[in-house]
Amino acid sequence: MKKIVTRALAVAAAVTMMSGTAYAGDAAVGEKYAGKRCKQCHTWDKGGKKKIGPNLFGVMDRPAGTSEGFKYSKLFVKAADKIGTWEDAELAQYLKDTTKFLRKTSGGKGRSKMTFKVKKGKDQENLIAWLKTIK
Ligand code: HEC
Repeated sequence: MKKIVTRALAVAAAVTMMSGTAYAGDAAVGEKYAGKRCKQCHTWDKGGKKKIGPNLFGVMDRPAGTSEGFKYSKLFVKAADKIGTWEDAELAQYLKDTTKFLRKTSGGKGRSKMTFKVKKGKDQENLIAWLKTIK
């Protein structure tokens, strides 16, 4: 009996890890990271201007690739329909290696215009938590 209970708890813990806390980053830490690494190419204030990259205000609530007035790469445009509205797991892959993610998603060739890579999972999580607050 005891064994069964222990096992049930273990399963419950595993499920919690997969669904709830997998991308529970720290928005404040993400914001600091963004101030150092994303700012050179992005603004994120409402109606902010495009730089090398599009304005990121409300990016988690809008379909991918729809920042007004920004000309996305062909590869991005090809993938955008399939991405739809950004989900955590997609965005983590995107941040890790944007060209690789966009090629895989669209089946197309070419390159993303975003050359920056966020390699560490923890950094990706913090950035996603922060991006959700930008609206
Ligand atoms: C060297 C410039 C550069 C840096 C640094 C950069 N980006 Fe980008 N980003 C871009 C460009 C350019 C695009 C558009 C990509 C395309 O069209 O292929 C983009 C697109 C995006 C998108 C998709 C926006 C949409 O409208 O769907 C997100 C999200 C994003 N960047 C997040 C970030 C974050 C977070 C960081 C910091 C960790 C970052 N970027 C750093 C240039 C950059």
